[in-house]
Amino acid sequence: MIDNCQNLQPDNPKNKTIEILYKLEHVQKTFVSGTEQITVLKDINLTIHKGERIAILGSSGCGKSTLLHLMGTLDTPTRGKVFFTNKNLHTLSEKDKAVFRNQKLGFVFQFHHLLPELNVLENVALPGIIQGMKRKHVFSLAQEALTLVGMEHKLNASIPVLSGGEKQRVAIARAILLRPEVILGDEPTGNLDEENGEKIGKLLCTLNQEIGTTLIIVTHNLALANLMQKKYFLRTGHLYEN
Ligand SMILES: Nc1ncnc2c1ncn2[C@@H]1O[C@H](COP(=O)(O)OP(=O)(O)O)[C@@H](O)[C@H]1O
Ligand SMILES: [Mg+2]
Repeated sequence: MIDNCQNLQPDNPKNKTIEILYKLEHVQKTFVSGTEQITVLKDINLTIHKGERIAILGSSGCGKSTLLHLMGTLDTPTRGKVFFTNKNLHTLSEKDKAVFRNQKLGFVFQFHHLLPELNVLENVALPGIIQGMKRKHVFSLAQEALTLVGMEHKLNASIPVLSGGEKQRVAIARAILLRPEVILGDEPTGNLDEENGEKIGKLLCTLNQEIGTTLIIVTHNLALANLMQKKYFLRTGHLYEN
């Protein structure tokens, strides 16, 4: 395990081509509500390589969650394209998008989206159950993931009784369960105290360093952002590299 990835540089020797994971080309997103239209993302162009650690910052309401949702196929761009390893994600059928999300992504939602009718362990195990993995194996992976986020003492707890920070840690355990190629984290430490926030930052970095998980993290937490290799600011519908 590593202690910190603050000083780690991208694994990017000059003679090695690193595969492009995400490529966003002229992405625009307009929401229509009633007679009003709001163009939240105007022209987003972004390339992310395999194994990179990216932070996305910006003020509340600037479109950070919208951007992550587009990258996670949970919403569709109004214009432009989102490629994942050369595949235009928004040409996939809904079924193939669901398979893509299950097999490639770990999504930590801003508002957790845990299922209240399932307990903690079952919520975390769900991505593995959906893949048809053996229950015993999935539950042991889920227990391990919950231990990594410091929630091993609440395996059988019901979701509604958890605090915001505990729900967030369960959501992180669910996102890392299958060691996905990419983690899309939407303010993953937003409800955590400093100590737990630091622990989650280190955990994400460990996954990045040990198995090459690409991290794309929306955050207001500067300590977490500083663990990433690149920082982007989203402002007035455009993305600026810091
Ligand atoms: N489904 C939607 N319909 C209409 N407006 C939306 C929808 N989703 C987000 N918005 C609006 O888009 C803007 C950006 O939202 P969001 O991406 O959640 O911002 P952030 O995550 O940066 O705080 C906000 O003004 C929000 O109200
Ligand atoms: Mg948001």
